[in-house]
Amino acid sequence: MFDKLASQPNDPLLALIGLYNADHRADKIDLGVGVYRDDLGRTPVMRSVKAAEKELLEKQDSKSYVAPEGDRVFLDLLWDLVGGKGQGKFAAGVQTPGGSGALRLASELIARAGSGRIHLGLPSWPNHAGIFGATGLSVETYPYFDVPTQDVRFASMMKALSSAPRGDAVLIHASCHNPTGATLTSAQWEELAAVIAERRLVPLIDSAYQGFGAGIEEDAAGLRAIIAAVPEALVAVSCSKSFGIYRERTGAIFAVAETQDAADIARSNLVTMARTSYSMPPDHGAAVVRTILSTESLRQDWIDELNSMRNRLNGLRRELAAALGDGWQLAPQIAEQQGMFSLLPLKEADVLALRKEHGIYMPTSGRINIAGLKSEDIPRVAAVLKPLLG
Ligand code: LMR
Repeated sequence: MFDKLASQPNDPLLALIGLYNADHRADKIDLGVGVYRDDLGRTPVMRSVKAAEKELLEKQDSKSYVAPEGDRVFLDLLWDLVGGKGQGKFAAGVQTPGGSGALRLASELIARAGSGRIHLGLPSWPNHAGIFGATGLSVETYPYFDVPTQDVRFASMMKALSSAPRGDAVLIHASCHNPTGATLTSAQWEELAAVIAERRLVPLIDSAYQGFGAGIEEDAAGLRAIIAAVPEALVAVSCSKSFGIYRERTGAIFAVAETQDAADIARSNLVTMARTSYSMPPDHGAAVVRTILSTESLRQDWIDELNSMRNRLNGLRRELAAALGDGWQLAPQIAEQQGMFSLLPLKEADVLALRKEHGIYMPTSGRINIAGLKSEDIPRVAAVLKPLLG
């Protein structure tokens, strides 16, 4: 059987981890995969996560199955965090292996119940199109961001969605757009929500970086505006970044509807899809998140640490923008963008040369993970980037 298979290329973003690790230069810089890093280049376990794990180690008395949909207390707490007061809608959640697991189940649900088509603004996280294609959805693309001018192509997006067929799905990044960091204004979120509602599109909202943009509540405001405007939505949540528990594969998919019955029917479908795929989600990360969100002292410590991570990112953005400022007139945009990523107008050959000659690693798209910078590296990084950007 196996000789009938063709070898598949490695995922380029994940392959970058191996390339970086194989480089032995002491001054190499990793601006690749989207994980948070501190001043020392580490991705630390958050204090509240450690404390929750200690508590679980002492108190957890069983490793038996939890439930097909996962841990309902975790799901309720996570929905409060993301959906807020719920905007008058009913949500039914299923715990998933990471945000990717949530997107995969959502995509299968759209394939089963919807038009089989999803609209995707480009550029986007490369795995979006991969996941949608793997479940048989056809992917319609429209321009979201113009790399040379660093501007959101809002008019183009609105034009594309205004003519999208009723019942189609549309992928929306909740905040901290990956890969561009480009944000919408509140007025633009309202306009987007109105078009989605008017065209009867079903938004699949990907919320993977809550707290890294403008704040925990602020980063959910656009998502909540859309939920308030539409009768149905799917919200895919990743806990990887906001809780720093990447390898624990923790997330959830929420079906949001106007009645609890409608949400529950969607959930029953999501649960059967999970059952025939991986049966039930891993528990540990969700148990950690549940412990943090339900213990006031841990919750506050988590908020404080996440706030300081965001402040570090924003400080690095300002430093990089200042260092690039005398060579690239669009540098101030880097300080305005939010979250871990910005997308620089670099040619693939430039990106490869940056790796080879300077040990600076980023995907060939030109996306940089701002968290991978250290203040002390910024003058050197800016000096090599300026001639390529200006
Ligand atoms: C990224 O975009 O770097 C992260 O979301 C990690 C991943 O799985 O691609």
